[in-house]
Amino acid sequence: MASLAPERVAALVVAAGRGERAGGGEPKQFRPLRGRPLVVHAVEAFLGHPRIGRVHVVVPGGAEGRRILGPLAERVGLSPGGATRQESVRLGLEALGQADPPSHVLIHDAARPFVPAAMIDRVVDALAQHPGACPALPVVDSLRRGGATVAEVVDREGLWRVQTPQGFDFRAILEAHRTAAPGATDDVAVAHAAGLTVALVEGDERAMKVTVAEDFARASALWPRVITTGTGFDVHRFGPGDHVWLCGIRIPHGRGLLGHSDADVGLHALTDAILGALGAGDIGVHFPPSDPRWKGAASHLFLAHAGRLVADAGGQILHVDVTIIAEEPKVGPHRPAMCARLRDILADHAPRVSVKATTTEGLGFAGRREGIAAQAVATLSLPG
Ligand code: CTP
Ligand code: MG
Repeated sequence: MASLAPERVAALVVAAGRGERAGGGEPKQFRPLRGRPLVVHAVEAFLGHPRIGRVHVVVPGGAEGRRILGPLAERVGLSPGGATRQESVRLGLEALGQADPPSHVLIHDAARPFVPAAMIDRVVDALAQHPGACPALPVVDSLRRGGATVAEVVDREGLWRVQTPQGFDFRAILEAHRTAAPGATDDVAVAHAAGLTVALVEGDERAMKVTVAEDFARASALWPRVITTGTGFDVHRFGPGDHVWLCGIRIPHGRGLLGHSDADVGLHALTDAILGALGAGDIGVHFPPSDPRWKGAASHLFLAHAGRLVADAGGQILHVDVTIIAEEPKVGPHRPAMCARLRDILADHAPRVSVKATTTEGLGFAGRREGIAAQAVATLSLPG
C-alpha cells in the first residue's frame, strides 16, 4: 500500500471551545490532567509521531493559548477559532491552506488528551485509499430512544461511536467545510454531507473526550502509569542547642542537631525517598551543602521542592512512611503534628503519610545518644 509523505500530513488540533459542560472556570482543554494541560498532551502526541509533518492549533482569541502551550507554541502554527467547533475547524483549515497546503490533515479535539500512536497510524494508513478516515468503536450497550419512558427500541447493529483524529484529503475537507451547513458536531458529518467516502478504522477507549468534570478522573485512570518506590536515610549528630527539628516540628530539647540546614533528619530522609522514586538524584544534587543559600535553611523547602518535581512529572505521591531512630527526644507525642505537617508541606499532592519511631535498645550511635537517624519510603504513581 502506498503511504503518505509524512512532511505533507498535518494535524489540526481544535482548542478554542469554552468547555461549558465541564465547568470549572478555565476551558477544560487548558486544565491539567496528570500535571499538564489536555491540549499539551494532545499536541505532544502529534509532534512526536513520525508520520505527522506539522501541527496547527486553533486557540481562542487572545494570548491564553500561546501561554498554555509554553515552549510548544514555537513548534506549532497558531490561529484563532470561531463560535462553534465547525467554525473553528474551518478557520483552522483556511489558516493551514494559506502557505504550502498539506496533502492530508488529521483533525483532532484538544479535549481528547490521549492519542495512541497506533491509532494515528491506522487513520494515516486508511487515507492512502480513502478521502476520509475516522476511528470508531462499536456500540455495545442496547439503545433505546425515549424521554421519561422508552418510545422506541433502536437496533445497535452497525452503529459506531466515532472519535478523533479524523483524517481527510486536505483539499476535499476544506471545500466541504466551505460549503457545509451549520450544525455538524464532527468533520465526518461535514465530509459525508459533501459526498466523501469516510473509512472506519479501529478506535481506542483511551481516546475518550473529556466532556464533563468527572471525565478528568476517568481519563487519568485510563492513562498508563508505573508505580515506583524510593528509600531515603539520614543521620545528624547532637551538639549544643535547645531544640531539634523532626518532620517539620520544632521540639524543645536539651541538645540540638548539627547540620548545614536545620538538620531535620526526617524531612531529609523523606526528600531523598521521593527523589529516589523519581530517579532525580538526591537532596545534595538539588541543594548542595556548598551553596551558602541553604545554610540554616528550613528543610520543608527541600520536601516541597521534591513534591513539585513529582507534580511537574505528571505524577502523584501515593504514600510516604518515615521512621525516626532515636533514644531521645520522645517522638510519640508529636506524631499527629508531624503527620499533619508532612501533609501540609506536600499540600497539593495529598499523600497518605505515616511517621513512626524506634530506639535501638541502647546499641550503636543512636543508642549512645550521639545523634538521630531517620529512614523513609515513598511510593509514587508516574506516567508510564
Ligand atoms: N472547540 C473549538 N471551538 C469551538 C468549540 C469547540 O475549537 N467554538 C473544540 C473544543 O476546544 C474541543 C473540541 O472542539 O477540543 C470538542 O468540542 P467540545 O467537547 O464540545 O468542547 P467545548 O465546546 O469546549 O465544550 P462544551 O460543548 O461543553 O462547551
Ligand atoms: Mg461544544
